[in-house]
Amino acid sequence: MYNKPKGTRDVLPDQSYKWQYIECVAREVAALYGISEIRTPTFEYTELFRRGVGETTDVVNKEMYTFEDKGGRSITLKPEGTAGAVRLFVENGLESCPMPVKTYYITSAFRYERPQAGRLRELHQFGVEIFGAQSPETDAEAISAASAFIERLKIKDVRLEINSIGCKTCRAEYNAALKRYFRPHLDKLCANCRTRYETNPLRLLDCKEEDCKRIAAEAPSILDYLCDDCKTHFAAVKQLLDEEGINYVVNPRIVRGLDYYTKTVFEFVSSAIGAQGAVCGGGRYDGLVSEIGGAPTPAIGFAAGLDRLLLLMEATGVEIPPRGVTQIYFAGMDAESRKKAFSLACGLRKHGIRAECDLMERSLKSQMKYADKTGAKFVAVIGGDELAKGETNIKNMADGTSSAVKFGEIYKYLSTRL
Ligand code: HAM
Repeated sequence: MYNKPKGTRDVLPDQSYKWQYIECVAREVAALYGISEIRTPTFEYTELFRRGVGETTDVVNKEMYTFEDKGGRSITLKPEGTAGAVRLFVENGLESCPMPVKTYYITSAFRYERPQAGRLRELHQFGVEIFGAQSPETDAEAISAASAFIERLKIKDVRLEINSIGCKTCRAEYNAALKRYFRPHLDKLCANCRTRYETNPLRLLDCKEEDCKRIAAEAPSILDYLCDDCKTHFAAVKQLLDEEGINYVVNPRIVRGLDYYTKTVFEFVSSAIGAQGAVCGGGRYDGLVSEIGGAPTPAIGFAAGLDRLLLLMEATGVEIPPRGVTQIYFAGMDAESRKKAFSLACGLRKHGIRAECDLMERSLKSQMKYADKTGAKFVAVIGGDELAKGETNIKNMADGTSSAVKFGEIYKYLSTRL
């Protein structure tokens, strides 16, 4: 017996409709916002993530699935979707398309994290990346798309938190202020934070260790260090969200776990699924396209964690529309009848009716049991008599009534009753 690797999941036949539903809603929302699908490889050259996601992040430092392929190249399973989307944008010359270029993806991502509820090693994301637009309306549109996705799933109890982490100019000043603040506390910080102090002071605000959290609570706020341009941009984004009735709280502690962000960052958080409450995260990344070889291009995006959203929907009793069940099941009494049952099912499928018949050469009793399990709405038994008369009794499983229907008229009969 083999087991699936730790931190991965199987989707069973009676659960897959939930995934199809979430993905379908994601595609609907993308269509509403004029966003087109892209697909990038499951693996990329490691260098892309080192450059794109950032050397100082946990994702790159500790969590990547990296290996050498048989040609001696360093390959990494994508830990997120943004870096690959940016590479696709640059490599395929989308820079010369009319802007903005709006893209989305539904993908697995791989992170070697300690698995727990809502934290997987193979996770699933619906991500959106919008290239080429720097207006505050773009930030508001990205946030609005994420919010529409969550709303359309009928998920409540999710809080939108936003922040601005500024641009290169104001960040440099803020980093210096953070260092000034943390310097006297260095000996009380965890080893990770002591490294962060040197490499990426912003990440000092994101430590989960209690002692570090306590010290970070009093740290200066980025919002007091924003340059005029970043301040104006953030104010305009907030105003647009206010005008659209999208509720949010400003949380100056959101710094995000990936290095590419500039200006607006945001997270949708729930308290109903335990410690891993972030169901969606994103932000602006105006420096990333040029960082990986493209022309300077502003960009913004988000990724919603589908595993966590599903967990949240199940935890809070959000109804997921049931999967399409079998509409008619044909049982066959003997070899000849089974052939007829097969042919009737094939014929109805051509008309778009979800039809099934026996494939197991089972007794009538077992066939009826199976039909019941599939939830079939109608059941028809074919035997010698039916073959002779060219008709069968179609039983409505909901109310137990049945009617004799000619083989050639089954579609007409069902089409008014399904
Ligand atoms: P992220 O915050 O790392 O951002 O991930 C986005 C979402 O993926 C999280 O909010 C969470 O719901 C889900 N997620 C992350 N890690 C796990 C895990 N181990 N298990 C289950 N779910 C997880 C990004 O990935 C950015 N690329 C988002 C983005 C797109 N920013 C701009 N564009």
